[in-house]
Amino acid sequence: MDESLDTVLVSYDEETGVGTLTMNRPDALNALSAQLRADIVAGLRLLEEQNEGADGVALRAVVLEGAGEKAFCAGADIGGFSSDSAGGSSDRTHYDVIRDFPTPVIAKIDGYCLGGGLETALACDFRLATEDSTFGFPEVNLGILPGAGGVQYVTKLAGPAVAKELAMFGDHISAERAADEGIVDRVFDSDEFDDEVEEFVSGLTGQAPLAVQAIKKSAQMAVQSGLNEGLRYDRQLFVELLNTEDHAEGAAAFAEDRDPEFEGK
Ligand code: HXC
Repeated sequence: MDESLDTVLVSYDEETGVGTLTMNRPDALNALSAQLRADIVAGLRLLEEQNEGADGVALRAVVLEGAGEKAFCAGADIGGFSSDSAGGSSDRTHYDVIRDFPTPVIAKIDGYCLGGGLETALACDFRLATEDSTFGFPEVNLGILPGAGGVQYVTKLAGPAVAKELAMFGDHISAERAADEGIVDRVFDSDEFDDEVEEFVSGLTGQAPLAVQAIKKSAQMAVQSGLNEGLRYDRQLFVELLNTEDHAEGAAAFAEDRDPEFEGK
């Protein structure tokens, strides 16, 4: 499936189960206009539809990337700010939809990843970046703060001092520092980036899809809730997974000393 929305290219590879969303405003460094935010949501819905009528889980992972040579995303479109950019009057922003999306979403970052662009990456499950990428919250230079939880999430990943440094100074940091701080998961040479991302994603898509989805929900609960609530939730997810065909397949494959074939059932 290949579909071109106004500002997002959507593709789905049936063989691998990987969907790709490309933010496609390269002339504006993929800045998040209202249209782009809406198209990310629409693109995710199109990808989710691949599961309809499938035997098990068809869509195993989504890669989110930016078009052009310079940026993943340079943040909210400075020409078109409104309280809506942070979800002011909308029920669910693209950040929420990515966070709650059932399958993992991987941010493939090559270039600027700033402001709302960094918050978009933080909403993803993994952040993979080229060594030349740069990260930051320049909002303070506009007299605002990262309105989509940037300080909250960086505080959880890297601690309050790093979050405050990024948001109060507004400077860009390197991919290497972002990885040292735990904001980025992996940094790769530019030459090897596509192959490395493909390998990372294929490692994920081979895993039992329902277990992967449950782990995403568990991790989300860990960020949002207290420990006791999280432990109760994990036990419930665990019992649900015990009843899946994938669990039976995983156990059988172990006993038979072969690779499992998971279908998401
Ligand atoms: C709209 C943008 C943009 C943005 C870049 N462009 N960032 N347009 N919104 N956020 C446009 C430029 O106007 C320019 O258009 C083109 O992209 C290329 O950018 P240049 O500045 O010429 O490129 P360069 O000199 O390489 O500088 C790159 C840059 C700089 C360092 C990334 O563009 C920059 O500082 N951009 C602003 C980044 C920023 O402040 N982001 C945070 C936004 S606030 P033309 O037409 O001139 O070629 C935010 C709040 C989130 O994100 C809140 C969430 C709720």
